[in-house]
Amino acid sequence: MHIRPGGYDDIRGILDAGLRINSRIKPEHMVVAEAEDGRLAGFAYCFLSGLHRSRYWATIRVCEPYRRSGLGTDLIKELGKVRDEAKPFYVKMREDNPSLHWIRAIGATPFQVCPPMNLDLTDAATLEWVAALPARAGVVAGTALSDDQLIHAFSQMYEWVHAEWSPVTSRADVERVYAEEVRLDLNRELSHFAVDGDTVVAGVFIFRTPAGEALDAVAETITRDAPDGDAALAACVRATAVLAAERGWPALAFDGHRDDPHLYPLLTRAPKLVGDTLYYMEYEPPAD
Ligand SMILES: CC(C)(COP(=O)(O)OP(=O)(O)OC[C@H]1O[C@@H](n2cnc3c(N)ncnc32)[C@H](O)[C@@H]1OP(=O)(O)O)[C@@H](O)C(=O)NCCC(=O)NCCS
Repeated sequence: MHIRPGGYDDIRGILDAGLRINSRIKPEHMVVAEAEDGRLAGFAYCFLSGLHRSRYWATIRVCEPYRRSGLGTDLIKELGKVRDEAKPFYVKMREDNPSLHWIRAIGATPFQVCPPMNLDLTDAATLEWVAALPARAGVVAGTALSDDQLIHAFSQMYEWVHAEWSPVTSRADVERVYAEEVRLDLNRELSHFAVDGDTVVAGVFIFRTPAGEALDAVAETITRDAPDGDAALAACVRATAVLAAERGWPALAFDGHRDDPHLYPLLTRAPKLVGDTLYYMEYEPPAD
């Protein structure tokens, strides 16, 4: 087996070998493994995102016939040598992904966990729980807020939620990356916000979701120490969940984290949470 530097010119060979590769991303560093007969056996690449720069996102794929012979580990080892910066690698994996065994075997540990956080809006006990959440004055739908208010609130929330475990480069960068999604893809009728005067205190941002699927939700207080943040967020969840259930949406899928200090404790009080656990795994490439 021969491992060599790789790049865009290898994409054809990677696809011909039956391996998936996202041709939209721009790998900063890449290595490719070739078997003795010249066939492509696997590849690995990594890059630093423009927004979260404390770890390299790394992707490794090995063709089935070459698995379990140490090639995946060797590819990561070689990729580690060609990194520009001595930052760890990371990947997100669901709990049912068999590659979790591999990533744990090479020493990866979770730096964030997303436990099941979906509310089943067809479940009577969940609907009862939602309806019993305390309402609050000043909860409005997203239709009542301007583009700038929504983009600003989303960016503020995103920045502090990630600060402890995957900090962003700047709030302005969050706005640059997400402004268009918030402006164009937010379901403003279903999204709800707790507002005090001109200040948005908490919010449930609902992004456009195909009919019949679980609604894609991002929710937290807008600042970490929002006054009365627990109650403000609970009132937003209530408003969104009641309306979503009325409109026939089957579930509310929160894209949240175990460390979200208002959202996760609130949801753990629901009678039932569904979904898979998602792990953010980080690791150092093995040394020679
Ligand atoms: C994950 C992957 C890259 C591993 O490649 P590989 O060449 O088979 O891995 P290695 O031979 O280096 O495995 C090292 C160790 O990891 C563990 N391991 C690897 N695959 C495993 C599996 N499917 N089940 C259980 N343990 C596994 C074993 O402990 C193994 O050592 P052993 O074979 O001596 O028992 C390969 O299975 C793959 O391409 N999967 C699909 C893509 C993917 O999920 N990539 C990962 C993240 S982007």
